[in-house]
Amino acid sequence: MDTVGSVLRRLTRGGDTFVSGQALAEELGVSRNAVWKAIQVLRERGCEIEAAPRRGYRLKWAPDVPDESAVLPGLFGTPFSRVVYLSETSSTNDVAKQQARAGAPEGTVVVADYQTCGRGRRSRGWVSPPGAGLAFSLVLRPSIHPRQTPLLVFLAAAAVRQAVAELVSRRDGGDTVDSEPVAIKWPNDVVVDGRKLCGVLVELNAELDRVHWCVIGVGLNVNQIQADFPPDLQEQATSVRIVTGRRARRVPLFQQILAGIAQRYDRALKHGFAELLAETRRFSATIGHDVGILEADGKKWYGRALDLAPDGALLVRPADRGHPVAVYAADVSVRPDRTAPTGIVSATSTRCDCGVPT
Ligand code: BTN
Repeated sequence: MDTVGSVLRRLTRGGDTFVSGQALAEELGVSRNAVWKAIQVLRERGCEIEAAPRRGYRLKWAPDVPDESAVLPGLFGTPFSRVVYLSETSSTNDVAKQQARAGAPEGTVVVADYQTCGRGRRSRGWVSPPGAGLAFSLVLRPSIHPRQTPLLVFLAAAAVRQAVAELVSRRDGGDTVDSEPVAIKWPNDVVVDGRKLCGVLVELNAELDRVHWCVIGVGLNVNQIQADFPPDLQEQATSVRIVTGRRARRVPLFQQILAGIAQRYDRALKHGFAELLAETRRFSATIGHDVGILEADGKKWYGRALDLAPDGALLVRPADRGHPVAVYAADVSVRPDRTAPTGIVSATSTRCDCGVPT
């Protein structure tokens, strides 16, 4: 084991007691400078380590690692039978796409502790400090028509929404109420009180009438505090920790989300997507609200979001016309200030200059 791993192990063993830098250095047979460097690396990886003069170091929190040995035992009975864990990668969607192209089986899960070039919709980036969030991508090979693929976003959004709502409800003493604040914002976000908690990015390879594979990428803010978000997103982003008031263990949350996706996927393939659509409608942060629509070509317009179409499109009645329009791809802002429509930029997303083609 390297010095970083040995320091972490020794601090974990120390529990609540401080371990001096000198003792660590002597026990591990390294210099005090090497111990200090290892402490910095552990902090960069998301560990919270208290340092007190003349007393030494104490581990207050270490992120759990969502690797195969931790995650797989909770996935029995789901199609997710292969977990590829990467401590650092460019983008789990890119790795999952490479694996899908190379023939990876349905149910392959790619998860990373840190992405150097995490991607969101419309070439935006997805940023998350090491160890703080969940960033994963799933390879699926569904026998559905390509027209139905926009619905796959809801598999992940609904499963994340439910898992986080349960954590929020535990905070509130177990009351699960319909008006709970964790909601699905069309097309691909999970939000709490309008702030983005999670984004979903689906990419696929298909012919006109057949899907070869699709990759569902999920970025969930778990243990970030507000200061961890880039300054321009601090007003728009949130995390499980912020909404529940306590840190969450990522592994059980991840297992619950994967089990939730598996259950919804199974039902959708067997019985169609009506049930998933109903759940998405029920917990929608968009339907029934005045919305601003920003289309890919920059066209902006306003209206009222009425419903979801069976293919997942958002049905919007434009403010200047009576007939609903089906919106398939757009950024949606809920209750915009019509003089200065902000909030259109998806939270936790910044421009990504990495230029990774999708
Ligand atoms: C969005 O909000 O536009 C979607 C964000 C999706 C981010 C996730 S993180 C895991 C996976 N890998 C990526 O590069 N993107 C997705």
